[in-house]
Amino acid sequence: MYPIIRNRRLRSSEAIRRLVKEIIITPDDFLVPLFVVEGENIKEEIASMPNYYRLSLDNLEKEVKELWKMGLCSVLLFVKVPENLKDNKGTEALNPDGLMQQAIKTVKNTCPDMLVMTDVALDPYSSYGHDGIIGDGQILNDETTEILAEMSVSHAQAGADFVAPSDMMDGRILTIREALEEEGFLNTGIMSYSAKYASAFYGPFRDALDSAPVDIKNVPKDKKTYQMDFANRFEAIKETQMDVDEGADIVMVKPGLCYLDIVREIRNEVEVPVAVYQVSGEYSMLKAAAEKGWLDHDAVMMEQLIAIKRAGANIIASYFAKDVVRLLDE
Ligand code: PBG
Repeated sequence: MYPIIRNRRLRSSEAIRRLVKEIIITPDDFLVPLFVVEGENIKEEIASMPNYYRLSLDNLEKEVKELWKMGLCSVLLFVKVPENLKDNKGTEALNPDGLMQQAIKTVKNTCPDMLVMTDVALDPYSSYGHDGIIGDGQILNDETTEILAEMSVSHAQAGADFVAPSDMMDGRILTIREALEEEGFLNTGIMSYSAKYASAFYGPFRDALDSAPVDIKNVPKDKKTYQMDFANRFEAIKETQMDVDEGADIVMVKPGLCYLDIVREIRNEVEVPVAVYQVSGEYSMLKAAAEKGWLDHDAVMMEQLIAIKRAGANIIASYFAKDVVRLLDE
């Protein structure tokens, strides 16, 4: 009587497949990264990220309205800082009228209910392209976390709902939490880039913000002394657990696709929402292959996002968010 169990019964029609489907993607899954630049009426396509743009504040306003209409209610802000405002300590990051602070206000004035998360890291502001202050050829940890805490308070003052430290310094979540509490920002959340790997997939992002580490004598040209070695797994769990203990409301694994084993382990390990950042290189790879006609863009996009969610992601930061919503609306 073999076989009694035929697994194909549950795959035999579109209707039964829909009935037993475990994972669906909705607009609520997404956090939309946005790149902001100084100036007016600017919408420049990022060369290595087809159909993704740097926006001046006026166009940020338009973009946010469009996202809101599409049902995309959360954004993650990044700024491209002019070269002349960069220094070792990221001084411009604390300017109350700086681009990030203005961008936060722009989004909140345009769309008060839009959830605003901000990138907290020195690299866009650093003349060295590093996420920390440099001293004696090293990335200084504690000096950096102090500035990140001040930056976080400044973003909260401008109206950010969440700050998202993406630097991987030790102890920064606690330092930021304490600074926010001290200033009365009890309800400002922290989404921590907890397991962030030193990945070559960030290349296009660094083009977008012109934030790649520079070639200077006695300064490391990569981020391997703070971002994690992608060969390591236990470290990711330890980092994430520590961030939760220090007060992170949401933790994150980054990049996405190559790290889904880590996503699953962390999902099983902690009791807070887990975000995954599907990073710039992941976006660009698919755009490039689709342009060449080698991959079916929409099908591969959905397969990747469902895989990320199936691995355990509760939130996905993705440059594909608008593409997905358009596809779902078809
Ligand atoms: C910087 C930062 C990076 C990304 C987000 N925040 C780049 C880096 O660490 O060098 C990468 C995002 C992407 O590639 O899409 N703190």
